[in-house]
Amino acid sequence: MAKVRSIYKCSACGAASPQWKGQCPACQEWNTLELVQQESRIQQYDTDNTPVPLSQVSSKRHQPYKSGIRALDHILGNGLVPGAAILLGGEPGIGKSTLLLQVAQAVAAQERTVLYASGEEALAQIKSRGERLGDLPESLLAISTSRVEDVLAVLRETRPTLVIVDSVQTLTSMAAEGLPGNVNQVRAVATGLLETCRATDTTLVLVGHVTKDGALAGPRLLEHMVDTVISLEGDRRQMFRLLRVFKNRFGPNEELLVFHMGQKGMEVIDDPSTFFLGARDPALSGAAVVMALDGRRPLAVEVQALANRTFLSIPRRTALGFDVNRLHLLLAVMEKRLKLNFGQMDIYAKVGGGIKLSDPGLDLALSAAILSSCYDMALPEKCVLWGEIDLNGQIRPVSGDHLRLAQARRLGFSPIISPQDAGKQGINAIADLGRKLFCKKQEH
Ligand code: TYD
Ligand code: MG
Repeated sequence: MAKVRSIYKCSACGAASPQWKGQCPACQEWNTLELVQQESRIQQYDTDNTPVPLSQVSSKRHQPYKSGIRALDHILGNGLVPGAAILLGGEPGIGKSTLLLQVAQAVAAQERTVLYASGEEALAQIKSRGERLGDLPESLLAISTSRVEDVLAVLRETRPTLVIVDSVQTLTSMAAEGLPGNVNQVRAVATGLLETCRATDTTLVLVGHVTKDGALAGPRLLEHMVDTVISLEGDRRQMFRLLRVFKNRFGPNEELLVFHMGQKGMEVIDDPSTFFLGARDPALSGAAVVMALDGRRPLAVEVQALANRTFLSIPRRTALGFDVNRLHLLLAVMEKRLKLNFGQMDIYAKVGGGIKLSDPGLDLALSAAILSSCYDMALPEKCVLWGEIDLNGQIRPVSGDHLRLAQARRLGFSPIISPQDAGKQGINAIADLGRKLFCKKQEH
């Protein structure tokens, strides 16, 4: 017989406490703790779990299968693995449901059963989106529900190859209390799905909402429970989306994929390294190309600057796509080391293509773009730069130097001004950079 014990549970957040308290220790709400009877879990353990030699465990059942998007297979470690769990996070409207429905359609086209469980959309909505994206094979099943128990029942009955749950925050579990999306609900929903999927060798893809600061909503525990955590990022007004891998049990980490949101769903951009350059006119002043590194992927991105005479008592400094403090800092270093006076100038700077960069390697290209705008002289046509600038004006190496260099050479950039090559080119500090890039032109 299971032992029954008494605990106090918060009706707002579901946190348990062994004693009654006026204020919930977890969510700080007042008068929310209520007495509940719970069966002790100790009695419920399965005593039949005998260990088996690892060498005799069959791995045949866990051969990965294709997701229909080759680049996605590569970053997931050769495809989707049966029994594995993937968490996909992202802001609303970024394209999570679109991407996953595309994957669902591609997997179903291989005559594998796929279940698309949505707590957000009605079946008719899913169907109309699916028709827009491609065919609707017979083996693609859908269910629209807000109760995880419905999904679990279908899972046990149909044993699909892949299940997509959109989203974990919109489902509720009878095993937990509180509103959908609260910590206990998310944990209970995810645990139920994970256990069932492991038992049926189904690949589970969970969609997760993100909070305002970009973190996955719900317990951090969710990230520990799954095998892979990926996130879809980007500006909704721009047409590109970045898919990043944070945790990966079956494949490479820190990978990045660039997608284009088109009329027929998400399309992978095969060579994203020059995607953010767009159509640029190298003869214009105030622009420089940086070989930035995002995760392990080098991207050539244009950095632009505009230096104008100011009519304000405090000159304006604007930075788009990177931290404005970096601009302040670089301007201070340039004033001190190059004996320039920016006090009478408004300075605007932005990273082209709508991408956000936090790479310290941006410094050198940003300084070059500012100098180029100040002197109204364009940089050499195929010049690329990267490197961090110290407060004393020295150029410092940044991570992934060899990756950036290999990519810059492959794309035919020249001159390549990097911390590694700087010594050879006589550029050890920002003062040399100004001389190297602009003095020769001034002589003409
Ligand atoms: P959606 O997948 O619903 O986002 P999420 O599930 O992350 O909230 O993204 C929908 C957006 O994508 C919406 O603004 C419409 C747009 N879209 C396209 O541009 N092309 C398409 O083929 C589809 C299906 C959607
Ligand atoms: Mg959605």
